[in-house]
Amino acid sequence: MFEATASAPVNIATLKYWGKRDVNLNLPTNSSISVTLAQDDLRATTTARASSEFAKDELYLNDTLEPLGKRTLQVLAELRALRAEIEQKDPSAPKIADLKLQIVSVNNFPTAAGLASSAAGFAALVKSISLLYKLPHNDSELSVLARQGSGSACRSMFGGYVAWEMGSETNGLDSRAVQIADVNHWPNMKALILVVCAEKKDVSSTSGMQITVETSGLFTERVNTLVPELFVKMKKAILDRDFGSFAKYTMVDSNQFHAVCLDSYPPIFYMNDVSKSAVRAIHELNDQYKEPIAAYTFDAGPNCVVYYLEENEEAVLSHLGQAVSNVNGFPVEKMGSTPASTSTP
Ligand code: PMV
Repeated sequence: MFEATASAPVNIATLKYWGKRDVNLNLPTNSSISVTLAQDDLRATTTARASSEFAKDELYLNDTLEPLGKRTLQVLAELRALRAEIEQKDPSAPKIADLKLQIVSVNNFPTAAGLASSAAGFAALVKSISLLYKLPHNDSELSVLARQGSGSACRSMFGGYVAWEMGSETNGLDSRAVQIADVNHWPNMKALILVVCAEKKDVSSTSGMQITVETSGLFTERVNTLVPELFVKMKKAILDRDFGSFAKYTMVDSNQFHAVCLDSYPPIFYMNDVSKSAVRAIHELNDQYKEPIAAYTFDAGPNCVVYYLEENEEAVLSHLGQAVSNVNGFPVEKMGSTPASTSTP
């Protein structure tokens, strides 16, 4: 039996990917940026095994046998083809490309946290099988495979601050993730997840993107003007450790992404009243400080991710605690996370 284990972190986009130019290959209509949460928490860890004793490919997710979806099969086929090339070139390489695989993946974060686990899951799957197959590719090259599983998974191939460059080729080989800076670049950056609702989202990101691409007029403005500008500015803000600018761009992008969802027909609502109260609370706080000391961002769901610097933790947590607990029936679970450590308010 051959075996390898690897893990990959959850990532949260601060400049969102929204829209596919090729649905099959998950090629995006814009480049995006993410901040990968803590190195130790919030990860998927996957062990891949190949053996002549396995009768079929199997995938276990948190101890449950899962059906192999179309995208997983596509990624497995690509990984096998790369291994087969190695075996063809080097006759002494063990013949494992044709062996069936057993893939066992575990998330160390609660499913109830409402976090999208597919990004970390696909990245860990690609990493573990590429180790098993001893593929010579670097993480950026492997991110092209993870992307085909779930677009945002390509960014989970790295820790820290990561860009997904949309690329222009039709085969998708240049649509890949690159690291902007590693996690130690900005050690006092922290992230907090306000879990507003742990249930599955109403409209999946794939179908939401399709409705937006087909119907929203604002979407053209987003992909042609706003995002290309923010992509350059946000990268610079990260490299300069300029929190005020990073925070502003993150909030502007989240707001514009949700505006594009609302501009879709039929409209897509991901944020709810509790999400909106968190937005108001953060603007109130930033107004008090006369500069952004906290930034919110929302993915395709109502949960709020808040970024802030460690020195402002008390101010941010106490303000959010008050503002948010004032909201009637706010079923919030707070989960703290930072690139360096975990904070539980
Ligand atoms: O990779 P997907 O298909 O789960 O889409 C992710 C979409 C957003 O989370 C809303 C944005 C992003 O860039 O992660």
